[in-house]
Amino acid sequence: MRRTHTCGDLRAQHIDQTVTLCGWVQNRRDHGGIIFVDLRDRDGLTQITFDPDLCGKEAHERANRIRSEWVLQITGTVKSRGERVNANLPTGAIEVFVTELVILNQAQTPPFEIDEHSKVGEEVRLKSRYLDLRRPSMQRNLITRHRVTKVVRDYFDANRFIEVETPTLVKYTPGGARNFLVPSRLSQGSFYAMAESPQLFKQLLMVGGYDRYIQIARCYRDEDLRNDRQPEFTQIDLEMSFVDMDDIMAIAEGMARTVWKTVLGVDLPSPFRRMTWAEGMRTYGSDKPDLRFAMPIVDLSDWAPASGFVVFQKAIESKGVVRALNAKNSCEILSRRTLDQLTEFAKGLGAKGLAWIKIQGDPTKAESWQGPAAKNITEAARVELAKRLSVEANDVLFFGADAEKQVCTVLGAVRVELGTKLLKLARGDDWQFLWIHSAPLYEWSEESHAWVANHHPFTSPYAEHVDLLSTDPGKVLSKSYDMVLNGNEIGGGSIRIHDSVTQEKVFQALGIDHDEAERKFGFLLHALSYGAPPHGGMAFGLDRLIMLITQAESIRDVIAFPKNQRGRDEMLDCPTPVSDRQLKELAIVSAVAAKA
Ligand code: AMO
Ligand code: AMP
Repeated sequence: MRRTHTCGDLRAQHIDQTVTLCGWVQNRRDHGGIIFVDLRDRDGLTQITFDPDLCGKEAHERANRIRSEWVLQITGTVKSRGERVNANLPTGAIEVFVTELVILNQAQTPPFEIDEHSKVGEEVRLKSRYLDLRRPSMQRNLITRHRVTKVVRDYFDANRFIEVETPTLVKYTPGGARNFLVPSRLSQGSFYAMAESPQLFKQLLMVGGYDRYIQIARCYRDEDLRNDRQPEFTQIDLEMSFVDMDDIMAIAEGMARTVWKTVLGVDLPSPFRRMTWAEGMRTYGSDKPDLRFAMPIVDLSDWAPASGFVVFQKAIESKGVVRALNAKNSCEILSRRTLDQLTEFAKGLGAKGLAWIKIQGDPTKAESWQGPAAKNITEAARVELAKRLSVEANDVLFFGADAEKQVCTVLGAVRVELGTKLLKLARGDDWQFLWIHSAPLYEWSEESHAWVANHHPFTSPYAEHVDLLSTDPGKVLSKSYDMVLNGNEIGGGSIRIHDSVTQEKVFQALGIDHDEAERKFGFLLHALSYGAPPHGGMAFGLDRLIMLITQAESIRDVIAFPKNQRGRDEMLDCPTPVSDRQLKELAIVSAVAAKA
């Protein structure tokens, strides 16, 4: 081995030892003949010192030419820094006086400084990702990611799960996310789909008798990207036989508790809080409520007709709702300008407006109530409102009046904007876990004018709702559950349908008739007819989990080689066009050829 220690190892106890270190030059400082270099590897920084009397004139001259990011191997003696101890550095008690210098490699001047404080755009960082990966925060994130995956595998192994790999080149099936397609050379004109998840395979593994399955699985989805989404991402995917919702929730919570304990040293509560999907939507306007702050949404639909405000009355007349939330003690932070911005934000989400009232002073005095909605509300309505929203001086009230779904969307988003950004009520390390369960099985899609599966079409309805499948699909609730952490959906799953009759009924409600079901999902329907055990499971988004654990700002900061917001790899510069010859081989007409 070239090294005796890493750059993070040396302490006072090593003083007088001869050591060899390898690493990159963080910086070089020349102090009148003595040269100081901070040498960096993934374990830390060590100050190495070139004193011509100790390292010799020749080595000292070479040290003079050293630049940032050169790769060095040095041998030297560990000495105390005496008075000059650097308390900010774990190795700050010592320095290594070099006796031997080997320059392992030189480096061009990097496009950005390898430093947490250097403010460079993400595009530049991604273009030279190998340099960006040298930054300590990136290294910390990826090491944490490794630790979590290891803990997760051990946890499931201890609970009798076995890891099975499933294909990523699969059959295209409708519904769900948009798939990436891969042309087949051998079956010309036909395509594979890149698996959006191992969903059907893990169900088939249950039919195959594997009982408890887990996989750290790559998934591919051609979606619009955001800070918590990548086109290829990783799931911790699991499935269990002979279970119901509580069993899966218990195993999944156990995983989260083990990870938080081992990686962060944090004890999470047991069991996690639970809330129905309906309650989440009603009280927080969200299927993934952030519970780090309260600010519940209050229904005022019975108050609205006599409120005196036309906007509210009209919403109720058109079968909508009126709801409100109270941002406590926020009059000062929420300036007129901020409120205008918030109104624009609401309009961006489809709201017609965002009525607000500021309580500037004693709430029992009418003149304290200020804002566009205040003057329209009757005295009696104001008194009642004060009671329902527990109004005090300095509160700011926000109202949504529209169709229920629209009001949930807007007030839910306004609540999160207030809590996390404007009023900063949420801490990154306040871990508020929550289960949201029993979502509707179907959702009405205005776009395709049809019912679509809320989760996926293999999710089991509650037995007592099966009769509603053909009569009132919107009322059917599912045995589904999402694990939510601080407003993020970190995982989700369900109990599955395990008989082919119910599965066909669910397909029918989605507009998939028998023939189509047979063509597209025949393998599943057949498998379910050969003694499928009752089963269910879930999948965690590993990248999101790591993003939250490391408090990273974006999912890209916990992935070694991510795609940018437009789905491109900046470093590889891909996707790229391919030659006409390649397209011909795949029986795909090039766009250029087609035009001609
Ligand atoms: P679902 O589609 O909810 O369920 O995905 C499970 C979890 O994966 C994460 N996730 C993503 N992470 C990063 N980028 C993406 N584009 C992305 N899409 C999803 C989320 C999500 O909670 N087969 C089912 C699971 C099951 O029913 O067992 C499934 O894939 O954190
Ligand atoms: P207007 O009477 O239309 O000028 O609106 C008065 C106030 O009510 C303004 O602050 C609007 O932003 C707000 N507002 C208008 N429509 C709605 C709505 N559907 N829900 C909530 N607030 C609204």
